Amino acid sequence: MSVHEPFPALVLEKPAGTVEPRLRQLRLTDLPEQGEVLVEVAYSSLNYKDGLAVTDRGRIVRGYPIVPGVDLAGRVVSSGDPALAPGDRVLVTGRGIGEDHWGGYSRYQRVQAEWAVVVPEALDLRQAMIIGTAGYTAMLSVMTLEAQGLRPGEGEVLVTGASGGVGSMAVALLARAGHRVVASTGRLSERDWLEGLGAAALIHRRELAEAEPRPLRSERWAGAVDTVGGTTLATLIASMRRHGSIAACGLAGGPQLATSVFPFILRGVNLMGIDSNYCPAPRRLAAWQRLARDLDVACLETLQHALIPLAAVPAMSETILAGGVRGRVVVDLNA
Ligand SMILES: NC(=O)c1ccc[n+]([C@@H]2O[C@H](COP(=O)([O-])OP(=O)(O)OC[C@H]3O[C@@H](n4cnc5c(N)ncnc54)[C@H](OP(=O)(O)O)[C@@H]3O)[C@@H](O)[C@H]2O)c1
Repeated sequence: MSVHEPFPALVLEKPAGTVEPRLRQLRLTDLPEQGEVLVEVAYSSLNYKDGLAVTDRGRIVRGYPIVPGVDLAGRVVSSGDPALAPGDRVLVTGRGIGEDHWGGYSRYQRVQAEWAVVVPEALDLRQAMIIGTAGYTAMLSVMTLEAQGLRPGEGEVLVTGASGGVGSMAVALLARAGHRVVASTGRLSERDWLEGLGAAALIHRRELAEAEPRPLRSERWAGAVDTVGGTTLATLIASMRRHGSIAACGLAGGPQLATSVFPFILRGVNLMGIDSNYCPAPRRLAAWQRLARDLDVACLETLQHALIPLAAVPAMSETILAGGVRGRVVVDLNA
């Protein structure tokens, strides 16, 4: 790759106060010196957070111009760190790419060796991006519930926003681990797909959206992965069984949380926060090893909603924010 050769990227620019996504031809000299490893990106993905960044909602991006995309997977072209060599297959999820640093919507990108994970043998680069930040977050959530003592057979485990990226991955991973999984969704039409992923039962998300949740409801859930937040999380907290744990990772339904201390002090409910962005390296590696082991190829393929070119990212960003994506969107940098 010569420094003069152009390659495609989606760049967010703010020419006159409003953010505009533009398809650009960049050269290596246009990329910021943000890392010692140059990666030829094969695939990225579209997460809810990317949708917020591309449409300029939610204050995700710190400065413009920037290449968005919180995920990337590709091959190392050159490396200033002996831990990585040309040809190595690597992925990056988070670590500030697509927010503070330039991200995955570019055929080439510079990353720090410390941000990169060597893609496990069992996964190809596209499969790694079907998983992406969403699957990785789901895995961290499952590991957190397990660390809190949740074991299969102890009771029902709820997943909210079950048709979305994090939610669908969480359904698959929890079912694979032997739990009885209940999927909360606004799309009961996705019943067959969610049951195929391992959901034992579905509930409509309305059931968890009490406008003013009572401090305590009847106990139902032994564990939960919540991607929705807001009144859904408040209702969930009030419905947990004694010593049950919630992995709280999302805000698709809103960032506010109005609750009371009663579930915590009367039932010992545990509310555990999940941060995939800056999760320490040993835990990050453990999560990726387990993802590669636990998600079989057939399951992964059913989780891919669409494989899109860079040019389709702006429109798909609107779709994901409107709750219209089922599973995961992969972005093909060679399309
Ligand atoms: N903490 C972390 O490290 C981390 C990492 C990744 C993602 N996240 C967060 O997790 C959330 C999910 O991300 P994602 O990429 O999986 O997004 P996604 O694919 O859009 O999934 C979100 C799902 O939430 C449900 N939903 C959407 N709007 C809703 C509303 N108003 N009320 C209730 N439910 C609603 C929908 O599922 P149904 O149609 O099935 O109801 C939707 O598919 C986002 O808030 C994201 O920012 C956090």
